[in-house]
Amino acid sequence: MKDLLIPNHVGIIMDGNGRWAQERGLPRTMGHKHATGTLKKLCVHMVDLGVHYCSIYAFSTENFKREKAEVEFLMNLFITFFNKEMDYLKKKNVKVIFSGRREPLPEKVLEAMDDIVKETKDNTALTLNVCLNYGSHAEIVDMTKKMCEMYKDGDITLDDITEEFIEKNLYQDLPPLDFVIRTSGELRLSNFMMYQASYAEFYFPKVYFPDFNNEEFDKALLVFNKRNRRFGGTK
Ligand code: FPP
Repeated sequence: MKDLLIPNHVGIIMDGNGRWAQERGLPRTMGHKHATGTLKKLCVHMVDLGVHYCSIYAFSTENFKREKAEVEFLMNLFITFFNKEMDYLKKKNVKVIFSGRREPLPEKVLEAMDDIVKETKDNTALTLNVCLNYGSHAEIVDMTKKMCEMYKDGDITLDDITEEFIEKNLYQDLPPLDFVIRTSGELRLSNFMMYQASYAEFYFPKVYFPDFNNEEFDKALLVFNKRNRRFGGTK
């Protein structure tokens, strides 16, 4: 992987967990469980490669429409992951932040999220932005409300509202996404970081997320390196 351009900010839509499990005659939830192992290994790989930011789509605002049992399973998986399984990633210098609405996440999930943010706040290798109860539409609504409050309180004028201002007032102040990967062959953004993905390159491997191992990530990097990014210019 020598001499490859490493994207500064990678987005991963971790799709296909349910199908991965169903094809093995397992309950869908086993796909999510297996996905946590994949995610851990990928994070370490990204640290080794020098990726600075990774945003993952863990749970969308729309995912609450899933069956109650699956939603409950995922909420418990998040608690276990942030409370226990992150220990290894903490040691690997990974900093965890979150994007999304807190309401209506269960108290125990919120506690686990707050703890992991506090415990990893001084880490400097990879920033892992976990999009949980996240949707781009909700993010834009929430940012607009925040901006209107500031305007109403006289803290900003209309001239203060610039692209930079908007970037700073989204859920997290992050650099733009360079590369968005959606596993499982679906060709959709599904309300994931629309603003931040404006000039991202997209990659849609057929493989389901639980099988998206480090080798698959390296294949994705080779594809990224073949892209000619012009950002609206001609070069
Ligand atoms: C999409 O696959 C996946 C999700 C909605 C959940 C993603 C959650 C994890 C990968 C768990 C690990 C994450 C953390 C932060 C611990 P799907 O269920 O829609 O799969 P399908 O399209 O095959 O049905």
